[in-house]
Formats: sequence, C-alpha cells, structure tokens
Amino acid sequence: MSNLISSPAWRALTAHQSAISQRSLRDMFHGDPARFDKFTLQLPGLLLDYSKNLITEETFALLLNLGRQAKLEDWVTRLFSGDKINSSEQRAALHTALRAPSGQVVYMDGKDVMPDVLRVRQHMRDFCDGVRHGTLRGYSGKPFHDIVNIGIGGSALGPRMACSALKPYGNVNLNVHFVSNVDATDLVETLKQCSVDTTLFIISSKTFTTQETLLNAHSARAWLVKRLGEHAVAQHFVAVSANPAAASRFGIDLDHVFELWDWVGGRYSMWSATGLPIALYLGMDNFERMLAGAHSMDRHFQEAPLQQNMPVILGLLGIWHTNFCGASAQAILPYDQYLQYFPAYLQQLEMESNGKRADREGQEIDYATQIVLWGEPGTNGQHSFYQLIHQGTQHIPVDFLAPIASHNPLGEHHALLLANCFAQSEALMLGKAAAEARAELEAQGLQGTQLEALLPYKIFPGNHSSNTLLFDMLDPYTLGMLIALYEHKVFVQSVVWNINPFDQWGVELGKQLADKLLPELQNKQTHAHDASTTNLIKHTLARQIKI
Ligand code: F6P
Repeated sequence: MSNLISSPAWRALTAHQSAISQRSLRDMFHGDPARFDKFTLQLPGLLLDYSKNLITEETFALLLNLGRQAKLEDWVTRLFSGDKINSSEQRAALHTALRAPSGQVVYMDGKDVMPDVLRVRQHMRDFCDGVRHGTLRGYSGKPFHDIVNIGIGGSALGPRMACSALKPYGNVNLNVHFVSNVDATDLVETLKQCSVDTTLFIISSKTFTTQETLLNAHSARAWLVKRLGEHAVAQHFVAVSANPAAASRFGIDLDHVFELWDWVGGRYSMWSATGLPIALYLGMDNFERMLAGAHSMDRHFQEAPLQQNMPVILGLLGIWHTNFCGASAQAILPYDQYLQYFPAYLQQLEMESNGKRADREGQEIDYATQIVLWGEPGTNGQHSFYQLIHQGTQHIPVDFLAPIASHNPLGEHHALLLANCFAQSEALMLGKAAAEARAELEAQGLQGTQLEALLPYKIFPGNHSSNTLLFDMLDPYTLGMLIALYEHKVFVQSVVWNINPFDQWGVELGKQLADKLLPELQNKQTHAHDASTTNLIKHTLARQIKI
C-alpha cells in the first residue's frame, strides 16, 4: 500500500466519507442557512460557489489537512521559484513568469528570466502592431487578412480557445484559423478560405520536430510557393519555437522566430509567444490584460491561506470526488458560447498533466489520478448527455461556468441561459424523490398501474455535486484568471497525488509506432505486428485505394 493511502490524512477522509455517505445535500442546505456563505469564495469579478458539493465543514478541514500533509505550500513556493520540479525532464515549470509584470525578477539557475520574457513580449508587440496597422505586409504588398496557426496540442488549443472566447475584442479585419490535424482536410479546408496574398502562417512548435506540424507546415509552404514563388516565404511565415535553428532551416527569417524556452511546458505555453495568434487578433494590450488576469490568480494562489485559496479549493474538491467518492468523470459546462473550446483546452491541461500511473519516486500508484474530463456549452449539452449525469449510475461532478453580463444582450436570451445554468445545478443537487414524482403524476391525472409503471423513470436521485464559477463578464482579464485557476488546480492535485504534472511520456509510444507503420503503408517495408494490426495494413493495401 502506498504511503499516501496509509497516511493519517487519507485514512481520516476515507472514514469520514463512509460516515457521511448517507447524508443528502438537500438536508445539508435545509439544516444550515449559512451554507452558501461558508462554501463560497469571491475574488474581484469572480465568484466560486462550492456549496453544492457533498461536503461538510469537517470534510473541508480534512481535505485541507491532506493538502498540508502533502506540503502543498512548499510545492507552491517551489513552482514559483524556478525549482526543477519537472523531475523526469530536469526542467522548471515557470509559466507563471510569462505573465509576471515588468519590474519583477524571477530566478532560474541563478539567472533572472524576466529580461528574456520582456524582450519576446516586446518583439510580439512590434510584430502585432506592424500586422494590425498594415506596415508589415505580404509579398504582393497587401495587408494580412488571414492568420493560419499551424501547431498541435499546447501549440494550438490555448490560442484557439482564447481567440474564440475573446472574439468580441478581435480585429474584424483579421480571421484566425487553426490547423492541427495531420489529416490534410484540416489544412485544405482552411486554405480554401484564404487568399495567398493576404495570408500569414505561424508555425508554432516548441520542439519544431512534431510530425503533424512539420508536414502541415511543408504543405502550406508548397501552397504558397506554387502561387507566389520561393521569395515570398520569408514574408508569409513566422515561427514560435524553442528551436530557432530548425525554424531557420525551414526558411523562416530569424527575425521572425519568436522564442520560448524549455522551462515552458507546451500546455502551459499560451502566455508565451505561443499566444501570438491571440495577440495578433486581440492586440497586444488585450493580450497583456489576459496576462494580468492570470498574474492576479498567481498572486492569489501564492498568498491566500489554503482555506480561502480558489485553486486549492477546486483541486481538493476534485480529489474528494475522485479518490473518496468514486467519481468516474468530470464535466465542464460553460454557459457561454464563446467558451465553446474551453472543455477541449482543459482536456489537454488536466488529462495530459495528471493522467499518470507512476509517482515522483517511480512507484506504480495504487490510487486514482486524473479522471476523464469532457464538456460542451450549455444549453446544448442539456439536450445531449446531461441525462446520464441526472439519472445515470455514475458519480460525475460538474463545473458550471457563466458570465453575469452577455456580450450579446438580445431579448431574454441571456436571462434564459442563466436560468438554465442555475436550474441544472439545482436539479442535480435536489433531484426528485419518489413522493414528489408520485404527486406530480397524480396531479397529471395518472393513477394505479399506469402511475406505478411510469414512476421509476420520473425519480431523480439528486445529491450530485457541482461548482459554479460566476464571473461578471468574459473579458481578457477574467479569461486569464480562469485559465490560471485551472492550471493551479491541476498543480494542487498533482502535489496530493505525488506525480509530476509537467511531463507527458504517454504520448510517445503511439508516435514511435506510427513512424514504423508509415513506410509499411507506403509499401516500402514490412514489420512484425500483432495479428490485428498486420491484417488492418494488409486489408488497406489490398483495397488498392490511393491513400
Ligand atoms: O502531445 C505531446 C506534445 O508534446 C504536447 O505536450 C505539446 O503541446 C504538443 O505535443 C506539441 O508539441 P510542439 O509544440 O513541440 O510541436
């Protein structure tokens, strides 16, 4: 048994969970008029209501003990001070430095990283101003109109999510596109929307070795060269990379390579030059407002006591559900169409970070780590998968996110949207007991066997836990706060689980095998495989369809 499972704080929580497992949230609210005040935390413009989680004050105290037992405060200090806490890669994880204001010093290996951070920020500002003001133009002398970001994973998901989330702040003369998939459809369909004279490509790859990104980049380059010639490449391609030499070999002018560093993890990199599409689309001032929002969450995470610390609370509640209440998945439900890509962004942030099975000492773990996370904007999800959350057999905690003010005030749309959001968390919590369902059916005139036959389907168990994050409006500052909140939530959980959230070795095996398989599909080589893979290859080749 691992040290964690046999630790006093863990055992206390296990015992406590069985003691309160029969209690209901409905009764907890009835019995305590102050419950909302006790389990709510407000930061400027952002409220977290966590009162609808199946917890008591004792649960909360025990969870905080678990955090203290894991030396959470020491780990937060280590995160911000540039310690090499990404131990399997011997790297720091200093994404917080990327949003630190000028004037702050952040040391790593005895060197202040801030001069480099500020230099690249200025480089981004100059470039964005040039493109947005039309002083930087394409080869034919026309201003840029389409920005195509070619990148995958952390080099795409954060920027794509932020550009969508902050569309009301975007430049109407610029379209931003994101090409990630090695499926040519992604690139081809994007290029159909672009005119070659006015298209700027950003090749975004920290390593500049990612197969999908490089193939897409080469195909995009060929598309441009065919139409404008080799000389046009320098004016239409820029790169974001920690490997400027490779970007330069691709043909990108070194002045147009925006640097990042190995101490920035891919999925934590949207605050760096990886955020270039965001800065181009929104303008650098708005990008810096987003950094400022994230920085304010960093300060809160560092300074607030554990019991009033939003990322700590979110992280520990996740641990409660995952490790003590048997949750199998976590739903992220933004009641804001602009946040449509937020669940997809969090999928990488949470699952690539904490989807691990070996602890920091290399021991195989005997407790659950990251659960599956998914989501859709409300109200669409309500007509799709909420059924399972309400009446299915699994325990699925939910995060609701909603803005109080809409960017698009139109009739009663926003009031109805918010009404649905609040109604869902209330319905999940209250459920509908058999007696209530029976009374409702009777009121509809049903009785006898007809009523009894329908009754089981009308019962909702309720007692489902949810958090609600309510913010004044989705602006760059607030978005920065929200993203940093989840980044730190992930960190808190990694500390309790004693895992490294900053590596991702699990994505390597598939890559290695794809490298081996490619020449086989091109009929150049054969290798031994399992019977299924061998036959899939054989069948594909036997069909003699051009691939
Ligand atoms: O999927 C693995 C991964 O390394 C991610 O962590 C990263 O965000 C993505 O690939 C892209 O990597 P790069 O920016 O080096 O192309």
